[in-house]
This record gives sequence, C-alpha cells and structure tokens, in this order.
Amino acid sequence: MTETQKTAKLSLNGQDYELPIFSPTAGPDVLDIRKLYAQAGVFTYDPGFTSTASCDSTITFIDGGKGELLHRGYPIDQLASQSHYLEVCYLLLYGELPTATQLEDFEARVTRHTMVHEQMHNFFRGFRRDAHPMATLVGVVGAMSAFYHDSTDISDPWQREVASIRLIAKLPTIAAMAYKYSIGQPFVYPRNDLDYAANFLHMCFSVPAEDYNVNPILSRAMDRIFTLHADHEQNASTSTVRLASSSGANPFACIAAGIACLWGPAHGGANQACLEMLKEIGTVDRIPEFIARAKDKDDPFRLMGFGHRVYKNTDPRATVLKQSADEVLELLGVEDNPLLQVAKELEQTALNDPYFKEKKLFPNVDFYSGIILEAMGFPTSMFTPIFALSRTVGWISQWKEMIADPQNKIGRPRQLYLGQTARDYVDIENR
Ligand code: SDX
Repeated sequence: MTETQKTAKLSLNGQDYELPIFSPTAGPDVLDIRKLYAQAGVFTYDPGFTSTASCDSTITFIDGGKGELLHRGYPIDQLASQSHYLEVCYLLLYGELPTATQLEDFEARVTRHTMVHEQMHNFFRGFRRDAHPMATLVGVVGAMSAFYHDSTDISDPWQREVASIRLIAKLPTIAAMAYKYSIGQPFVYPRNDLDYAANFLHMCFSVPAEDYNVNPILSRAMDRIFTLHADHEQNASTSTVRLASSSGANPFACIAAGIACLWGPAHGGANQACLEMLKEIGTVDRIPEFIARAKDKDDPFRLMGFGHRVYKNTDPRATVLKQSADEVLELLGVEDNPLLQVAKELEQTALNDPYFKEKKLFPNVDFYSGIILEAMGFPTSMFTPIFALSRTVGWISQWKEMIADPQNKIGRPRQLYLGQTARDYVDIENR
C-alpha cells in the first residue's frame, strides 16, 4: 500500500488525533486506526464489517459499483472464456499467469495428489447415508490433518506448498466421495489421464458396472463454474479462514472452518437455496407473489441468489453463468427448462421493481449456477460442496498471503459491551 502524506483529523474529548491515510492501487483509501485505542482510548464499531478493511491483499479486487472482478488484475470474464481452472489456480497462488512449462509442472503436481489416504474411506462410514455432503466435507477435510502430518507446520514454506497442492487436488475427490456415499454407490478413484473438471465428473458419475465417457461440453461448463467461484477477496468464508489461520492452526483445520462458514444460506449455501426457491415458485405466474414476499419487511423471505454486500451492480460471474446456462441447457437439449424460464422472468421482474432498484439488488453468482448444476445431473445438496471445492484455491491463496505477511498477528476484535457492570454473587436462598 502507498503511505500518503494525507491524514484524517479526529477531534475527541478536546483532543485532536491524526489518522494516517493509505491509498490502494484500486478502490477506496483506508484510514489507519491501528493506534486509535492506544492513543484515544476508543474502539471503532462496525458489526458485519461494512466499512472495515481487515487486511491488505494483492490477489482479488472487486469494484462493486462497476460490477468488476479482477484476479491478479485479470477480469473474470476473460479468465472464464480464455483460461481454465488450474491455470487460474496458478495465477491466484503465485501472482502471474504460468508459462507452458510452469503450467505443465503445476498440473502434474496437482494430478499426483488427487488420491486420498485409503484409511480416510472409513471416515465416511461413520456418517448417515443421508448426511448433507457439506457436513461430510467439513468432517473429512478437518480430519486430513490426522493423515498429512508432514504438511501441517505452517512455519515451513515447503510444507505450506505441499498442503496447498494437497487441498486443491483432494477436495474434488472428497466431494465426489461424499456424493457417492450419499447415493450408496462405490467410491470412484481419480484418473491421472483426465483433466481436473473431467476427473471430478468421472468420480461423481461413473460406476464400475460400465464405461463412462465424460461429455466435453459438461467438462468445459464444470471447469468454468470452478473458475467463477475460485476467489472473491475478503468474503465471510475467506475471512473465517484468515481468522482461524491467525492463531497458527494447521491449513486443513482452517479450510474446514471456511467450508463450515460457506455452508450458510446467506453465503455459499444460497445456490442450493436459490434452486429450491425457483422450484417453489414453479411457474412464472407465481413470481409476483414471491417478489411481494421479498419486499415485505414482516416476511423473512429473501430472493436467494439476489443481492450482495459489495456488488451494487450485476455480479459479473452471474452474467457469465447466465450465458453458460443457455449454452449448456441448449446443448443438453433442455433449453426449455422451466426453471431457467422462471429464473429469467424473475430476474427481469426484480430488476424493474423500484424496491430492488433502490436497494441496488442484482443477481449474484448463486442465481444461475444451480440451474446448470442440476442440468448436469447434480442434486441440490451437491451445489455448495462444488462451490467449496472451487473456492479452496482462493482460501489457500489468501491463507498463504497472510502467513507470509510480516505484520501477521492473531485476529482479536473488541466489542461494545452493553451487559451488567460488576456485582456480587447472591446465594440461592437470597434470590
Ligand atoms: C455469496 O461476500 C461475497 O463475496 C460472497 C460471495 C463469494 O463469492 O464469496 O459473492 C458468495 O455469498 C453471494 C451471496 C449469496 N447470498 C444470497 O443470495 C442470499 C440472499 N441475499 C442476501 O441475504 C443479502 O443480499 C446478502 C447476505 C448477500 C448481503 O447482505 P447485506 O450486504 O448484509 O445487505 P442487507 O442484508 O443489509 O440488505 C440490504 C437491504 C435490506 O433491506 P433494509 O433492511 O435496508 O430495508 O436489502 C434487502 C435487505 O432486506 N435485501 C434483500 C435481499 N438482499 C438484501 N431483499 C430481498 N431479497 C434479497 N435477496
């Protein structure tokens, strides 16, 4: 960051304080309040962190007003159309697009870490078959630290690198195992002759009883979905990973914490909730009823897949996913999918409604993704696990950046205390 000569003046209790101002390469300036409590004896107050920068980062930039998303400076629509997921992983992890040799080496390293320790198969047997795959994912990913002791020492750069590759490589395998376990089918081992997306489809949809050929259209669509979910600056689950990592916890435990946070319907769980909402709406003639509910202050219902803390314009990922939904459903011969029609009509109705216009509520990444995933054959319960495996590289990249930051210290927010002041204990007979 650029330390400017600019400062902000704070007058408090008859004292003036100068707060340094830092200017970013893009986005708003920040006020440095790190010494505020020591100097002025006051905290800042920002539940939900609507106006708080928790860190500095060089990985991802979002301009919510323009609806722009950059990964190491490259626009998401260009990466989605011209790159592929493992190349985007390399970009997020190391900061630059790889040369052909670097990419070949990186893909080979990931490919050779896709299998999980055979003993991990037993973990799944402890879950009910109808357990939500996200519950299984949280449990099994957290348990990875019980198997991969040689990549848990975060002070060792080599172990950090091995843990990064292991997580990126094994998350699809574990997510596919969670799916297979939930439908009572045998686990399918990864294949080194398939690319990342094709391997995931193979592990999810092939069965030992017959040959399975990955549909290249689905594989390309799957890879694009992975790319569109890869990273998104300091969202709730990434902030969870950073906070967990700040205590020095091992990378597997920190990623498990991120998966747990992503599961919420306000965050990564929205893709499942959105498709369930579209199914509940069912037909375009019921859209006005649900728009009215979304606007009703007394009704907790919200349009899932709509709205965003940062985007006050269309989420650029939603734009790419909308195009992809049209392409995939047409290529699969289901272009007249009623859910896609309801989604498009719902989007247009909401975008033309004064409530949504005034609150700047637009479709987000979760609005169209579920339609594509369902058309590809996934149950709604697998939507958030797919988001989680895609986002693992973003969590890992942010984790690596934080660990390498010399300023890195344990995160420990304060509070505005509104509880009881000190009082003496009262014996039960006197209460
Ligand atoms: C993701 O942060 C990220 O980057 C996340 C993510 C990523 O890649 O990591 O982009 C992924 O989580 C996308 C968001 C998925 N969630 C949903 O689609 C769930 C539905 N959307 C919301 O619940 C909501 O929009 C949030 C949680 C996404 C954002 O909430 P904020 O920023 O805290 O905004 P808010 O709840 O204060 O809403 C502002 C106003 C409120 O009305 P008022 O109280 O001001 O009168 O807008 C209303 C809200 O009631 N509102 C909605 C709405 N979202 C907000 N009203 C109806 N439907 C909605 N979807």
